[in-house]
Amino acid sequence: MGVYISDAEVQAAKGRYNETDPSASYTLNARCYTEQTFLDVERETVFKRSWQWVCHVEKVRKLGAYYVADVQGQSIAIVRDRSGELRAFYNVCKHRAHHLLEGEGKVRVMTCPYHAWSYNLDGNLRNAPHTDGLVNFDMGDICLDQVKVEEFCGFIYINLDTSAQPMSELTGNLAQEIMQYAPDVNELTFSRRLSFDIKANWKNVVDNFLECYHCPHAHKDFCTLLQFETYKVTTHGIYSSHMAKGAKGENSAYSVAGGDCDDHAVWWLWPNTCLMRYPGRNNFLVLNVIPVGPDRTIETYDFYFENPEPNEQEQQAIDYIRDVLQQEDIDLVESVQRGMSTPAFESGRIVNDPAGSGLSEHALHHFHGLLLNAYKTAVK
Ligand code: FES
Ligand SMILES: [Fe+2]
Repeated sequence: MGVYISDAEVQAAKGRYNETDPSASYTLNARCYTEQTFLDVERETVFKRSWQWVCHVEKVRKLGAYYVADVQGQSIAIVRDRSGELRAFYNVCKHRAHHLLEGEGKVRVMTCPYHAWSYNLDGNLRNAPHTDGLVNFDMGDICLDQVKVEEFCGFIYINLDTSAQPMSELTGNLAQEIMQYAPDVNELTFSRRLSFDIKANWKNVVDNFLECYHCPHAHKDFCTLLQFETYKVTTHGIYSSHMAKGAKGENSAYSVAGGDCDDHAVWWLWPNTCLMRYPGRNNFLVLNVIPVGPDRTIETYDFYFENPEPNEQEQQAIDYIRDVLQQEDIDLVESVQRGMSTPAFESGRIVNDPAGSGLSEHALHHFHGLLLNAYKTAVK
């Protein structure tokens, strides 16, 4: 089963997008942001074929630890098996399709709550009650369906495409960059999650993340956290880096006093994950952008700190992001979504600075190029 679009639809999506020169380019056509067809194509060609962020490695560190994640509507169980290997399965029993595990925890075997078939942590069927008399029934033939799973810089990612290339091959220097700015990312622990239900296409949320052209005007407090003139955006393969030096002294966003992190180091990883190290105390933030409909997106914003309970400064940072920064961005992207749904907008110019400053939108151009390539793979 596949989802296809015509070449004409891909050309319509491309519109005046210039594949080689961001300075001569428009954004992709607004149709990609408003029509169900494009979301259907993206589910097949983007989300089911890319590495999807799931959780911090702390959830599945111990032998037998498991974590159940919803990945694009599919329930996936991630398990650390008895030999220490990480595995991920569709959380679906081979008898009559009941789910196997729920939430998170630790198990020795995975036992289905329906008729008690049980599976070893490598996915092989171990026991199936009252099946001795069945004809042509060999327990050795039955194994849960696996998907790809990897541990990458402190986090677990899965890929529903069983032929996907490993993250290490796809991500170039990303791991080195993250470990340079956040060497403690493996040891940090989950503290808080913020969730936002946004009336905009997921790509509008990503587009907005990928440029800081809007920051001086729309995020006045955020800009006081940084030395904006040092802001630099670089694109690489399937990720982009957004770096700036932290401001010296006071700012109007949240207190960074006593913190060791001097930099704002942020990465976008194709297609929908943003990894961030903010100025202040040791921290790591993960923003995951989950499409629900052409004009609806759920965003989760997870905070990882040294301790699960935020201290006063960390709480101040959470409050600022929840009440100020996110609200500013949500207002922007929801307005853009409404604008895209009128006949008054098809696509707009990419504002590019070849020097790659914080005011440039070239990372958005990079994202649109990857999208266009994905759309092309859906042409029959
Ligand atoms: S559905 Fe799992 S044992 Fe029957
Ligand atoms: Fe913003």
